[in-house]
Amino acid sequence: MNELTFTNGRIVLFDRVVHGSINIRDGVIADISESPSRSGQDLEGDTVIPGCVELHTDHIESHLQPRPKVRWNLQAALRAHDGQIATSGITTVFDALRVGMEGDTEFGAQDMCDIAQIIAESAEQDSLRAEHFIHLRCEVSVDDVVEHFDALSGNPRVRLASLMDHAPGQRQFVDPAAYRLYYQGKKKLSDADFERYCARRTSESERNSDRNRKLIAQRCQAQGTAIASHDDALPAHVEESIGLGVALAEFPTTIEAARLSHEAGLLVLMGAPNVVRGGSHSGNVSARTLLELGCLDILSSDYVHFSLIQAAFFLADDGATDLAHAVRLILANPAEAARLDDRGRIETGRRADLVRVRTASGQPPRVHSVWREGNRVA
Ligand SMILES: [Fe+2]
Repeated sequence: MNELTFTNGRIVLFDRVVHGSINIRDGVIADISESPSRSGQDLEGDTVIPGCVELHTDHIESHLQPRPKVRWNLQAALRAHDGQIATSGITTVFDALRVGMEGDTEFGAQDMCDIAQIIAESAEQDSLRAEHFIHLRCEVSVDDVVEHFDALSGNPRVRLASLMDHAPGQRQFVDPAAYRLYYQGKKKLSDADFERYCARRTSESERNSDRNRKLIAQRCQAQGTAIASHDDALPAHVEESIGLGVALAEFPTTIEAARLSHEAGLLVLMGAPNVVRGGSHSGNVSARTLLELGCLDILSSDYVHFSLIQAAFFLADDGATDLAHAVRLILANPAEAARLDDRGRIETGRRADLVRVRTASGQPPRVHSVWREGNRVA
């Protein structure tokens, strides 16, 4: 039997914070005591939280293509990404892969199949620090999204699919001016080219989105894959999501959509960078506002890995909520949304996925060490 004890830690439990020790046997939390242990590794008063569960990060792409036209070895890219994930305190990650290409990328459908395969192989060989699953980000406005979905959905690591429509005038960018500001700049298009791009994307959305959204939702239901909505803005969007069996509302863009989703029992996910920056980069609703209104359930690191732990400690330091609640947003609720009931809390019988965090006044928290199932991974 492998046994490990940590003592003198500030332990963040599901509903409160205690000072004490944790005993781990064979990768599982065997005992939590609110008194110091005479033996074991001294945590010197550092804070211990469960390993973070990250549902939506597309960071692997930037490791695979670190510069335009530069492709890195896939396995090396995955390991580099995995290293950053683990050192950010994330022990379970859903790597978001694009399904349905918007036509503005150097990545193709085959690339996503290759990434999915290497993730599955590496997970099988237990050669990664964090545990990796796959989140299929399905752009339902695109003609061949269902075909791409079918090519990927048999991968055993696929556990989550989100249904998104990023055509102009839709959801994330209901305001055409905000859409222009974001996409014309990002794509470096002239005014005329941008108009042509918008016309094409709008007609694709009108032609495809409704049908593809339903087809993919049906497939997810049949395969037992959790479904997320994405950027819902209007009551009609939320109603549609409920009808499709959606469990998770990713990045609702208005207070109304977030409130209606939360009231209907969907878990509302927002970006941790939104919390750290104090607002949304595309001018939509702030995560902090949703927290104050009681309709924020999950934070995702989105485009900055480290933002999860940063956001949780920031919210607690700032008095927006207590640390146990902030930690539920980055851990317990995402684990529940992903149907992973063996982790997400420091609790007897759960996996010993733990992060030791050192804090100092006026500085971002520092990840000191990380264990997955009792094994040190960072
Ligand atoms: Fe979006």
